Amino acid sequence: MSRYVVARSDEIQAGQRKLVTVRGKPIVIFNVNGDYLAILDRCPHQGGSLCKGKLVGLVESDGPGRYRYSRKGEIIRCPWHGWEFDLRTGKSYCDPARTWVKSYSASIETGSKLVQRPFVAETFKVIEKGEYIVVEV
Ligand code: FES
Repeated sequence: MSRYVVARSDEIQAGQRKLVTVRGKPIVIFNVNGDYLAILDRCPHQGGSLCKGKLVGLVESDGPGRYRYSRKGEIIRCPWHGWEFDLRTGKSYCDPARTWVKSYSASIETGSKLVQRPFVAETFKVIEKGEYIVVEV
């Protein structure tokens, strides 16, 4: 597994996303309240682009007429048929044991650390004082 520099940290603001291609794979990076979360941009149902989906929260109910809304912006809803996936785990909320989208580890690294291996950054210009999002693929 290698680590790839995919964006400057200030390039994806909270609530925003960026689609990148790493080793031929379309990967979408989300900034969820300062956490960078990465998933494959391909819905496991029929291949819809999750990058084009709507960010929603988690709705739970313990009975008719009662519901609780939490985790705002942590669930991506596929634009094609509405399947929803937890950005932190990649799991479908309806069928978490059998249905999930591939997720990747994403982190922030300083430019000074990027000059050390084993990062791959040959297609992305970095400066030592900057901060960058790094994805493991
Ligand atoms: S392709 Fe995503 S829900 Fe059908």
